[in-house]
Formats: sequence, C-alpha cells, structure tokens
Amino acid sequence: MSDRQMPDDPSDAPHRETTPGTELGGMFPRAFQKEYVTITRGDGHFVWDADGNRYLDAIAGNQNVNIGHGRTEVAEAAREQIETLEYTSSMLFANEPAMAYTERIAEFTPDGFEHAWLVSSGSEANESAVKMARQYHYERGNTEKYKVVSRQPSYHGNTGIAMALSGFPARKTKMQPLFDDWPTISAGTPYRCEHCDGDGGEACGVRCADELEQAILDEGPETVAAFIAEPVTGAANAAAFPHDGYFERIREICDEYDVLFIVDEVMAGFGRTGENFAIEHWDVTPDIITSAKGMSGGYSPIGGTMPHRRIAEVFEDVEDGFQHGHTYCFNPASAAIGNAVLEYMDDKDLVANARDVGAYLRERCEEFYEYDFVGDVRGKGLMLGVEFVDDRETKEPLPESGAEFQSLLFETGLDEGVITYPSGGHVAGDRGDHTLITPPLTIDRDAADELIDRMHATFEQVGASLDR
Ligand SMILES: Cc1ncc(COP(=O)(O)O)c(C=O)c1O
Repeated sequence: MSDRQMPDDPSDAPHRETTPGTELGGMFPRAFQKEYVTITRGDGHFVWDADGNRYLDAIAGNQNVNIGHGRTEVAEAAREQIETLEYTSSMLFANEPAMAYTERIAEFTPDGFEHAWLVSSGSEANESAVKMARQYHYERGNTEKYKVVSRQPSYHGNTGIAMALSGFPARKTKMQPLFDDWPTISAGTPYRCEHCDGDGGEACGVRCADELEQAILDEGPETVAAFIAEPVTGAANAAAFPHDGYFERIREICDEYDVLFIVDEVMAGFGRTGENFAIEHWDVTPDIITSAKGMSGGYSPIGGTMPHRRIAEVFEDVEDGFQHGHTYCFNPASAAIGNAVLEYMDDKDLVANARDVGAYLRERCEEFYEYDFVGDVRGKGLMLGVEFVDDRETKEPLPESGAEFQSLLFETGLDEGVITYPSGGHVAGDRGDHTLITPPLTIDRDAADELIDRMHATFEQVGASLDR
C-alpha cells in the first residue's frame, strides 16, 4: 500500500481541515454552503492538501491534467514565452507559438483536419463550432439553416449555446428560461437504451441513430445546421458510449441532409480514450472536432475548434472572415504551453499508455460488481465510469440518489486517499448517480492497482453507509 495511512474506520481518518464557502478570501465560491479542502501542491498523479494528506488524483484535476501535475518542462516553456511575448491580438497580428501549436495539432488530428481555432475553454470551443457551422451554411446560400440537434444526456458547456444544447438537468434547470429549446434525441447508450436491454448490438445502434433522421425531418432539413455529440460521454453519463453502428449511421444521415456532424471531444479528445480522438474508435470522419481539457493538461485555459478541410475551405473566400472571436483567441503564452504539453505526450507515448493501462484498469474495474449498488462499469482507455443503482434488475437509482449519495462518495473517497468525480441526474429528469475514473494518462499499472485498492476501500465504506 502507499505511504498514506488507510484508515480502518472513519474515526481513524486523517485530520483534514476544511474552509467554509463563506470564508474563501474574496472568492464568490462555487457554493457558499459547501466546505472546501485546500489543495496546495501536485506531483504526477498525486496532490496534497494543506494538512499534508496525499490523494491519488483519479480524475486528473477535472479530467484535464492528462500529463500529470508539476511538469517542469511545461513551466519552462511558459516562462520562456511569457518573457518573450505574453500576448498579441489575433485580430490584428500573427504570432509564432500559435502557428507552431496549430501545426502540431493538425498532425495530431485525423487526416483532412488542417486548422485549429484556439479559444480558452470547452464551452467556447463548442460555441465556436456551432457558429462555424451556421456561417458555413450561410456562406453557401443556405441562410435558413441554424438549428442544432443534440442528445440527452449530454454536456457541452455552461455558456449560452453550449448550455442550450446540453442535456444535463442538474446544471440547467434553474437557468432554463435563458435558453432556446433545441431539438434533442436520446444518447442511445446501451445501459439505459430505450430500444433494447443493452444487448441490441449494431441493429440497435442504427435504430438509435435513426432518431436523428426523424428529428431533422420534424424540424425541416432546410433549417438544421448541425448535430453535436460526445463520442464517449463525460460528466452527464460517466464514460457511456453508443452501440456499434451508431456513429456510422449518424454520418450517413448528416450527409443526406447537409447537416454538419460536430464531435465534442472536450473531455474524450487528446488521447484520453486511447486514440488521439474518441471518434477514431469508429470508422467515421466528423465535420468539426472540438476539444479543451487535456489539450493544455490544466497548465493554461485552452480550447480548440478543428474543422475538416471541406468546412475551412468555405471560409477562404469570405472577405470579413469568421464572425466570431475573443480577446484570448490564439494567446501566445497558452499556445506555447499547449505545444509543450503535446510534445510531452508525444515523448512519453501517452496515447498508447492510455490504451494499455486503460485496458488493464477497465478489467480491474470489473471487480466493482462485488458491490450490489454497482450497476454498470464502462468506458474506453482512461475514460472509465461506474454507475450506481438500488437494484441491478430494474436499474432503479438509489434512495439516496443525488447530492446525498454523491457527497458521501466524494467525502469517503477523500478519507481513503482518492479523488472521485460523482455526478448524475441522467435518469428520469434528475435521478441516477455515477462516477468518472479518469486518472492522468501517465499512470502505470502499479498506480492503477493503488487506484483500485482505494476505490475498493471507498465502496466498502459507502456500501456500509447506505440504507439497504
Ligand atoms: C464534453 C464536454 N464538453 C464541454 C465542456 C465544457 O468545457 P469547459 O468547462 O472548459 O467550458 C465539458 C466540461 O466538462 C465537457 O466535459
């Protein structure tokens, strides 16, 4: 076991100071009502709190610290660039780090993707993709095309369009009046598939994808600009992905109705699932790829919108360019950091590591079925998820479903020295619980074993606390 003491019972838990949300300096906190542990440093796949307790970061910060914490190579690249040129406006000037970084991204993306539009977050990457899709149709004379079809459950970000497209009640309900109602279809993921018991295979994949055709016909194909989907879903459905055949049929439908296929790889992209991009697990080429999180490894806020050549070409003839942009687009300092992160990934062959250690970790996660409140274990590469239920047969959520269960899991994980990512709200409006397991892509099998041991200890304690 690790050098951190594994407590036998909660009374042996290490001292862990927390600070109320009301006392976080001048911060307007994420929640005034919560108590926060202060994290003071990180190294590799571990972080430490202010009391010196060590935690295995099983969620890579927020599924973004893909190369691990505290990499001096990245710090050095940042320092050098900031000393040379920290900022210049991309509206008025070109800058060398952005040119070098986007060239490297073009090598990393699938064939046919030659450009990257750089922003500061995943939400902005998705807003950019939707506007790019809209303007693409506009420039081709299809001025009525503007609607975007999305899926339930899903998460595409917290800004206006990105949240309007998200099927995530826990993050949306209170803000709902702010958003337009966009057409949606089900995510068609096997565990809670509306058409089969999960074993429907390719035929069911095609049937689920056909929901998109119906939505396009209902809206009027002349009004639909794009379809957006996470190839492997993140916080909204813990690493769930559709049946085989699904994305192939989606591609056919998009082609038939001149609808652009946007893949949201904000979490799944940049190697997390064991391919450079998750959509590469299937033989499908999207029209636009969006990403963020692992792009910068957490070392700077970066997001990117990568259009296929056939989309970019339409903009080549547009005199006033893409009608979008932010002050921090193509920020030189962030670009230098992103470049250093991709170089680190390349040097250490981290996509292959995500594939290899991910397969090992996925197999070991099967052990979690020994807990009767574990309903499903799933995922690809180092993007894994566990769904919790009261009854495996009916898949009924736990009575404690929601904040009660999710904070029990998170706090118990901290007691056991592991950081989890409980989320949910994907069943019947706002019930259902799951956790992501998304460690840095740098972990090896020993660290994967430690992660499993700590999750076992966590699940044992959680199981003992549930009302069953
Ligand atoms: C799939 C997906 N899309 C979009 C977003 C939004 O990204 P950001 O939080 O960087 O705005 C997230 C963030 O969790 C995500 O997981």
